[in-house]
Amino acid sequence: MVKNDIYILGIETSCDETSCAVIKNGRQVLSNIVASQMEIHKKYGGVVPEIASREHMKNIFITCQEALSSAKIPLKKISAIAVVNGPGLKGSLLVGLSFAKAVAFALNKPLIGVNHIEAHIYANLLNEKQIALPFISLIVSGGHTSLILVRDIGEISIIGKTRDDAAGEAFDKIAKYLDLGYPGGPIIEKLALSGDRNAIRFPRPLTNSGNNDFSFSGLKTAVIYHVLEEKKQMNELKLPDLCASFQQAVIDILLEKSLNALHEYHIDTIVLGGGVTANESLRKAFTQTMKKNKIEIHFPPKELCTDNAAMVGCTGYYKYIKGNTDTFDIDVYTG
Ligand code: KG4
Ligand code: ZN
Repeated sequence: MVKNDIYILGIETSCDETSCAVIKNGRQVLSNIVASQMEIHKKYGGVVPEIASREHMKNIFITCQEALSSAKIPLKKISAIAVVNGPGLKGSLLVGLSFAKAVAFALNKPLIGVNHIEAHIYANLLNEKQIALPFISLIVSGGHTSLILVRDIGEISIIGKTRDDAAGEAFDKIAKYLDLGYPGGPIIEKLALSGDRNAIRFPRPLTNSGNNDFSFSGLKTAVIYHVLEEKKQMNELKLPDLCASFQQAVIDILLEKSLNALHEYHIDTIVLGGGVTANESLRKAFTQTMKKNKIEIHFPPKELCTDNAAMVGCTGYYKYIKGNTDTFDIDVYTG
């Protein structure tokens, strides 16, 4: 071991995944353990906050132990503890933050609060990837749809965000409405594979708005109206066509808004992240369009698109080397 190696213990409990990871020198994922609560929340059609907090409480200790043992790094070698303290579900965040405070206090090591959206961006820096700065990042998850200008690591500004539903939320709500299950994204993606994406022309709200904000609730309503109309006409609902057409509308909106922002800020690199960017059709469409427009594009591997602690450890590393650590009175924030 080189003397100056930095090992960050990352902790993520902002929603329904309890995750702990050990990251070496900000780039190397030594372990990334994710305990998903998906099966538990499935029967309710979405995340139940009270249940999520209690599950985190049950899982956090064993997840942390597993992360340390599979990384083969004893606690005493950990340089700092990085934990997501927002945005997310209050009760869930409190479990991770309290646990992180206890570990940091016991080890007498720095505590670093990490922003969940920022962590999704820097998931792209893991596995030795080099990305030229500045870049624009599009983070698309169940809670967020944001365009972010990244001038430098840690120097970011949000240049656009959703005014209502997040893109992932639209996938989840439509899947729930159609009784397809939770989470909606992967289910709709699978159904869309055998559908025609041009079958139904759904609206693409705010694509010509002249700003970088998003809106997905009108698209969601249009899908619901389409279903109601088909039922009224006694037509058989073509689920694959519906899913493919809805998914294409989401992709078109995200693409159009991203291209506008890249153009406006004269940036030629885009960095994607968040659960929705695990979607294969989205990845293909973005890759093709960005290539055509001579824009460099980066995605994290699929397992680092959805919530995980590796991205938290990576973000924590950059804060650590800049001396941006926190005091023990830091709190959680929800939005
Ligand atoms: O980033 P993430 O794991 O958690 C949040 O921070 O919200 O994202 C979860 C969201 C859910 O809304 C889920 O339906 C969506 O990402 N998602 C997908 C896919 N996989 C997950 N959406 C579309 N296609 C997918 N393959
Ligand atoms: Zn997330």
